[in-house]
This record gives sequence, structure tokens and C-alpha cells, in this order.
Amino acid sequence: MTSIYERIGGEPAMNAAVDLFYRKVLSDDRVNGFFDGVDMENQAAKQKAFLTMATGGPNNYTGKELREGHKNLKNKEGNGINDEHVNIIIQHAGAALQELGVGEAEIGEIAALLETTRSDITNS
Ligand code: HEM
Repeated sequence: MTSIYERIGGEPAMNAAVDLFYRKVLSDDRVNGFFDGVDMENQAAKQKAFLTMATGGPNNYTGKELREGHKNLKNKEGNGINDEHVNIIIQHAGAALQELGVGEAEIGEIAALLETTRSDITNS
């Protein structure tokens, strides 16, 4: 079966989606405090590689395991990542994909895929 990665349009679509996604994330005060001091070019490259792999594209991800990569992250208030933060991130991903014309079926599949990472992201 054709991968989600191919169905959304492969590398150019993934690049555009992740760039738009991080523009949304960085302009949202509910979550942008986690990204203070993060090299966003490097972060976008890691996220593109992760999501490419997770959606069935080539596997060039060399970043950390998600649980390891998120367990010590804190926002400005000193709080870790909770379910509400994950909800917001998934919403921004869906909105970015929608703005780029990705179909509802693929958006739903990607949201479901992100959902499977929730307990690792919240370290629960
Ligand atoms: C919903 C699913 C999520 C996925 C698939 C995901 C994916 C990733 C990946 C692949 C990395 C790179 C790991 C590495 O450093 O090697 C990363 C880092 C990071 N993530 Fe997430 N993430 C998710 C949710 C979140 C949420 C909800 C937040 C906070 C609101 C968040 C904040 C961060 C930050 C700040 C980094 C950078 C850490 C650093 O460089 O020090 N992530 N994420």
C-alpha cells in the first residue's frame, strides 16, 4: 500500500508542513516556552526525518528516542509536557497539513500516528 508519506506528496510536502507547523508552534504562547534556546533549524530537520520515517518514507532519523528526548524538557514556568501541550501540538500539525491542502484522511492518519507517541512525550 502507498505510504502516508507518498500520499501527502513526499519530501517537498513534508518540508513545507514541518516549517509551517513550527511557525504555528512558535507563535503560540501555550507551548513556545518549551522551545526557548532550541536551534529551530536543527529541530525542524530532526522532526522532518522523524515524521518521514513514521509515515513510511525513508528512514534517516538519527535523533533521540522520543521518551528520552522529551523527559527533561520544561517550559518557562518549570512545568513538563502534559496532555494539553500534546493536544495543542497535534492541532497545529493538523492545521498546517490542512493549509497545505493535505486530505482529511491523511490528516487523520497522521494525527493517529502522533497520538501513539503521547505517553512517551508526556513521560507517563
Ligand atoms: C506529538 C508528538 C511529538 C513528536 C512526534 C515530537 C518529535 C520530536 C523529535 C523527533 C525531536 C528531536 C529529538 C532529539 O533531540 O533528537 C523533538 C524534540 C523536541 N520536542 Fe518534540 N515531539 C512531539 C511533541 C512535543 C511537544 C508536545 C512539545 C512541547 C510542547 C515538544 C517539544 C520539543 C522540544 C522543545 C524539543 C527540542 C529539545 C532540544 O533540542 O533540547 N515536542 N520532538
